[in-house]
Amino acid sequence: MAGTPFDYFGKNASELKNFAEIAGRYDFQRQAEQYLLYYLLEKLSLSPEDDLLEIGCGAGNLLIPLSFFVHSVTGIDHPNLLAQIKSRVPRDNDIMTLVPGEFPRVEVPGTFSRVLIYSVIQYLRDEEAVLTFIRTAAALLRPGGKMLIGDIPNKDIKDRFLATERGKAFSAEWKERVEQEKKKNPHIHQPMPAASLVTVDDALVEKIVAMLEGTHLRATRVRQPETLSFGYTREDIIVEK
Ligand SMILES: C[S@@+](CC[C@H](N)C(=O)[O-])C[C@H]1O[C@@H](n2cnc3c(N)ncnc32)[C@H](O)[C@@H]1O
Repeated sequence: MAGTPFDYFGKNASELKNFAEIAGRYDFQRQAEQYLLYYLLEKLSLSPEDDLLEIGCGAGNLLIPLSFFVHSVTGIDHPNLLAQIKSRVPRDNDIMTLVPGEFPRVEVPGTFSRVLIYSVIQYLRDEEAVLTFIRTAAALLRPGGKMLIGDIPNKDIKDRFLATERGKAFSAEWKERVEQEKKKNPHIHQPMPAASLVTVDDALVEKIVAMLEGTHLRATRVRQPETLSFGYTREDIIVEK
């Protein structure tokens, strides 16, 4: 469908040069992306035996470095994003499988010991799309496997943070940093087309957890550490099968 966030990221992938920006982050958040890699290695307890699936892998900012720690990686995203990944890895890379398309309407080869969905569910249409997306992803997890649904922009957490003195100071500083960044590079982050997007709040996160637990998975909400790109206001769900 034209004008969806999926198309927006696909278009950005062919127009932007900076990989942090292609992933919807700012260049000044590059170090936070590095902290994120440590965080994911630990939270997903990745090991050389793991087969890792990343749904919404973008230009590979996470998928590529994580591929050094596991047995295989599979990434799903828009073909333009996957083209960026191909340009970043050697052609004879035989541990990486790339699947073009919009999950869950794609054929996914096999099952996985680890699944990562990072900064993706907020770009889905509505609650039903989020629940279907997560239910389908969980079905790809092998027994004993782990899935991390990360960078969830829970509106209620953000509202609570912004109501504090610390939140207000942070918000003012953040606006200033973004303004500086825009002056340096006016081409970044063209506005996302007006598409109706799901609202992620406490109620939806609780619904996701209940749905996963209803299928005999263990689901735990975890607040992000402040070292991550949007760590003050976002949370993750860790799922164990
Ligand atoms: C904010 S970026 C995050 C990329 C990567 N996970 C990271 O953190 O660096 C969101 C990505 O999700 C992808 N995406 C959104 N909806 C998707 C869907 N239904 N199936 C697959 N990818 C999707 C977008 O194309 C985009 O590349």
